[in-house]
Amino acid sequence: MSKILITSALPYVNGVPHLGHMVGCLLPSDVYARFMRMMGHEVLYIAGTDEHGTPSEVGAIKEGMAVEDYCTKYHNRHKQTYADFELSFDCFGRTSSAQNQEMTYHIFEQLDKNGYIEERTIKQLYSVDDARFLPDRYVTGTCPYCGYDKARGDQCENCTKVLDPTELINPRSTISGSTNLEIRETKHLFLTLPKLEGKLDAWLKTKEPFWPDVAYSIARKWLKEGLKERCITRDLKWGFPVPKAGFEDKVFYVWFDAPIGYIGITKQWADADPKNRNWKDWWYDAKDVRHVEFMGKDNVPYHAISFPATLIGTEEPWTQVDYLKGMSYLTYEGGKFSKSANRGIFAEDAVKEFPADYWRYWLMANAPEGSDSSFSFDLFAATVNKDLNGVLGNFASRVLKMTASKLGEEVPAGGDMEAVDRELIATLQEKIDNYIKYMNEMEFRKALNELRAVWVEGNNYITVTEPWSVIKENPERAAAILRICINLIRIFAVISAPIMPQISKAALAKFGLEEKDMPSLKDFNVAKEIEALKPGHKFTVGDMLFERITPERLEELKNKYGSNKQ
Ligand code: MF3
Ligand code: ZN
Repeated sequence: MSKILITSALPYVNGVPHLGHMVGCLLPSDVYARFMRMMGHEVLYIAGTDEHGTPSEVGAIKEGMAVEDYCTKYHNRHKQTYADFELSFDCFGRTSSAQNQEMTYHIFEQLDKNGYIEERTIKQLYSVDDARFLPDRYVTGTCPYCGYDKARGDQCENCTKVLDPTELINPRSTISGSTNLEIRETKHLFLTLPKLEGKLDAWLKTKEPFWPDVAYSIARKWLKEGLKERCITRDLKWGFPVPKAGFEDKVFYVWFDAPIGYIGITKQWADADPKNRNWKDWWYDAKDVRHVEFMGKDNVPYHAISFPATLIGTEEPWTQVDYLKGMSYLTYEGGKFSKSANRGIFAEDAVKEFPADYWRYWLMANAPEGSDSSFSFDLFAATVNKDLNGVLGNFASRVLKMTASKLGEEVPAGGDMEAVDRELIATLQEKIDNYIKYMNEMEFRKALNELRAVWVEGNNYITVTEPWSVIKENPERAAAILRICINLIRIFAVISAPIMPQISKAALAKFGLEEKDMPSLKDFNVAKEIEALKPGHKFTVGDMLFERITPERLEELKNKYGSNKQ
C-alpha cells in the first residue's frame, strides 16, 4: 500500500460547470480516487473552487453582490453539484480560505528570502473615470490578431491568443465602458523564473520516464523557449493582500495562489477534524506520497512549469507532481457549450434528468483523452439503452427474475463447474486484469471498453448455457448456471463501482450487501469471487437498474438543451 495524493484542477468559482468541466478533470479524478481506494491504497483526494481574480469581481458587480458573498454562493453551488455527481472528495475547499492565505504567504516569503522575487515597473492601462488600473478582464477591446471586438485584456476568446491589456485596439473599461484610458506606470512583483530554469530542468528530467508524452512535451517546449519572469501581483481589491512594504494596495495574481490552494485546502481538511492534523505527511518532506494531478490541457503549463518552479524556489521539500493527467476538451454536438445561448447541458441540470451514473458512465467511456470528443444526446441515449440498460441492466434483471420464479429468491445450490464455466472464469479474469491495468494507467476509454466487454461475457454465457431450457431435463445444472450468473451480478457491481457508485450500491443492495462488503480490486480473483454468494443467500429482484430513454424523451431533451439549433 502506498499513499496517493489526488488533485483535480480547481474550477473557477464564477459560473456553473457543464459536462465538459466535469469530464475535463473532476470526474476522472474521482474515478481514479475511488479505484485507488479499492486497490487498497491510502488516498487523499482534494479539490475546491478557485476564487480570486477579475472574473469573480466582475461577476459580483454584475449580480450586485459583495464579492465574498458572490464567491460563497457559487462555491456552494459547485459543492452541491459535485455531491450530486458523487465526487468523493476528502475535502472540497476554497482558495480564498484563511489556510490558503497562510500557505501563500509562507511560500511567498520563502521565495522572497531566497532571492526569487523582484520589483519591476510596468506600463498598465489606467481608467481615469473609474480611478483605477484595469488588469486582465477589466479591459475589453478589439483583438489585434483576429479583429474580434469583445476581446478581454488577458485573452481573446475568439482566437484564444493570450494578450496583454495594452495590446488591445480601442480599449475600454469593462466596468464603466469608459474609453478615457491612459497608460501609466505601476510597480509590481515578479517571480524570476529564469533563475529557476536549471533546477526545474533537472527536476523535469527525473520525471521523463513516467510522464505522459503530452504533458512532458508541453513542459519541454516551454523550457526550450526559455522561461519569462512572471508578474505575480495585481491592482485589485479581491485577493490576498501582498505582505510586502510598498505593495500593500495590491493583491496576489490568481494563478499565484490557486495551485497553492491544493496545499491550503489540505490544511482546511486537517483543521476540520483533529484526526487529520498531519497534513504535512502529504505535502512536506513526505517521501512515500505519490501525487497525481488531473487537469484540462490548457492547465498543463501551470502545473508542469510555473507551480513546480514556485515550489522549487522555496528550497523546502514540498511534494511535487509525480504524474499529470491532461485531458482534451468535450464539445457539445460538435460546438461550444454556452449558458447564454442555451446550448449544452450543465451539470446541475444533468443530474435532474438522469441519475449521475448515466452521465458518469457516458463521460468516462467517451472521455476526451487523446483528442477532443463530442457529446450528443443521440450518442448518450444509444449508450444508456444499449450498454447500460441492454447489456448490464437486462442481465441482472433476467437472471434474478428467472431464478426467483423457478427456484425462489435465494442463491440456488446445483452441481459442479463444467468446462464452459471454467472458460468463462478464465476469460473474465483476463478482461478484468486488463480493466485494472488500464485504470491504473488512467487510460479510461480503454478501461471502460474492457468493463463493457466483461458485462457482454455475462450475456454470452447465459445465451450459450440456456438455463431456461436446461432446467427441464437437468434442474441441478440449471441451478448451477444461475448461481454463477447471480455471482456475476455481484462481480459486475464491484468492478463497476469506481465508475458507477450508485448503480453498484443498488445492485449490491439486492443481496443485502453494502459498499463496505466489497472485496479489494487488488489481486481480484474471479475463481474465488464467483463463489462469494453461497447457496441459500437471499436476494430481492427489485427494480431494474436502468431506465430506457424513449425516442419521445430523446426528442424532448434535444429541444430543451438546444441540440437542434446550431
Ligand atoms: N481555475 C483554473 C481553470 O479552471 C484551474 C486552476 S488549477 C489550480 O482553468 F491549481 F491552479 F488551482
Ligand atoms: Zn483574437
